[in-house]
Amino acid sequence: MNTEPRSSEIRDLLSVEDLRIKIAGINVVDGVSLSARPGKIVAIVGESGCGKSLTALSILRLLPKAAQIAGGHIYLEGDDLTAMDEKALQDIRGNRASIIFQEPIASLNPLMRVGTQVEEALMLHRGLSSAAARQEAIAMLSHVGIPDPERRARQYPFELSGGMCQRVMIAAALICRPRLLIADEPTTALDVTIQAQILDLMKRLRDEVGTTILIITHDMGVVAEMADDVAVMYGGRVIESGPVDVIFAAPAHPYTRLLLETVPKLDGARKTALRTIVGMVPSATAWPEGCRFRNRCPLETDVCKQRPGLEPKGQVWHRAECWHSDRVAEIA
Ligand SMILES: Nc1ncnc2c1ncn2[C@@H]1O[C@H](COP(=O)(O)OP(=O)(O)O)[C@@H](O)[C@H]1O
Ligand SMILES: [Mg+2]
Repeated sequence: MNTEPRSSEIRDLLSVEDLRIKIAGINVVDGVSLSARPGKIVAIVGESGCGKSLTALSILRLLPKAAQIAGGHIYLEGDDLTAMDEKALQDIRGNRASIIFQEPIASLNPLMRVGTQVEEALMLHRGLSSAAARQEAIAMLSHVGIPDPERRARQYPFELSGGMCQRVMIAAALICRPRLLIADEPTTALDVTIQAQILDLMKRLRDEVGTTILIITHDMGVVAEMADDVAVMYGGRVIESGPVDVIFAAPAHPYTRLLLETVPKLDGARKTALRTIVGMVPSATAWPEGCRFRNRCPLETDVCKQRPGLEPKGQVWHRAECWHSDRVAEIA
């Protein structure tokens, strides 16, 4: 039994409540609730197209023009980010909360030396002189594992490898010691060795700086490696959430159970989600009535035509949205 206290006892650092995001009149994110305990790593996991990135982008109000927040609230240390104006948000971005993306090359400014890009947030939010900011930036570049940081700081993104660029992004994101780091598929574009190094780096920073991390991934292996808590998304909703050890031991949603098949085994065998789960994620215009997973679910019955609620599943703050949680273990 997991006995760690939850929201009523510790205030969550981040709390997303019933978030809805509309594109062209359709709720592509449709009632997402999740939270992050201070100093913990929370993973949002799910196949491509389920709404992970839009959820992540909405937290810092960085949604593309086509998408709007259509309902719900996002609280950072109690402050409602959905109610803030652009000026207040600028004070938060890169300062109290930062985001890093899958493609570091695309996120860095190609025309600016990488050291300058790390310094920017310090000059903006802390009002440091450029000499003081340079010194801190070099220390941070070294902290994230960039050798010879003085020389590297003077280089441009194209002179660095993908892994080094991702380290620069992380340095820029962390330079103001944010309380929250959002990392959207931060290692997907990197090769396996560099991937492991970047994940290790994020864990170390969580431990040393106390940053709460929201990591977005389609990879259950990354969840197993990194996360304390997990929110599994499907069809624009969180269909299961709770502590990683509880959910890995006894998933209460068939989708989670099938995603777990994709975690690497000790013998090196690993199935892909696409091979394991029959069919494809339907687009937001084609979600079935009731449970959105039902047309791919091995446990489907008539009751699944009604939408299941996100219900507690025995263990402390383990929740899932499924009529057949008690039968998930039957899935071979
Ligand atoms: N800029 C956009 N314009 C139109 N549709 C979008 C845009 N961004 C995302 N979508 C749609 O919203 C849904 C969720 O996207 P996203 O959050 O990027 O999913 P994920 O990160 O889980 O792969 C998808 O169906 C996607 O096609
Ligand atoms: Mg995405």
